[in-house]
Amino acid sequence: MKIGVYPGSFDPFTIGHLDVLKSAAGLFDLVYVAVLNNSAKSPVFSVEERVEMIDRIIASEGFENVRSGSFSGLLVEYAEQINAHYLIRGLRAITDFEYEFQIDAVNRHLRPEIRTVYFMANPAHSFLSSSNVREIGELGGSIEGLVPSCNINYLRERLARQK
Ligand code: PNS
Repeated sequence: MKIGVYPGSFDPFTIGHLDVLKSAAGLFDLVYVAVLNNSAKSPVFSVEERVEMIDRIIASEGFENVRSGSFSGLLVEYAEQINAHYLIRGLRAITDFEYEFQIDAVNRHLRPEIRTVYFMANPAHSFLSSSNVREIGELGGSIEGLVPSCNINYLRERLARQK
């Protein structure tokens, strides 16, 4: 069984992330969307909130081979625990490549048997990031079309309170 982990901060999960997840779900038997639990990154949304939003997306998209989870510590150790041999990441631009290149080098050093698979983002989403969504939402702009529709009302309210 081919198992992949799609790790990230997902603060919050955007339609760019959804695009990558759809591709990964089509390729792997099972995909874990794994939220990084790292307070040093000072996320706006708690791990529980982020996992809850991902669960709503899994339900509303009808994904049968996608599960949510969270991890702290090393990603490759989490992958090992859930028997995943693939890490999944999205690439938007050349600037992402440099960052991903470094992460891959570290992960391969730690566990050469775990490989990373990359999906190019839809060019229509190449500008999109979780921080853009947070800023637009906090300033009262429309986040429609930027996040999965099942989370729009929740995010709109939650980000308005954040200001
Ligand atoms: O969405 P992000 O913030 O770009 O995701 C980054 C993530 C979660 C993939 C990366 O920070 C990570 O894997 N952190 C866990 C710690 C780890 O394994 N570090 C070694 C690789 S740099």
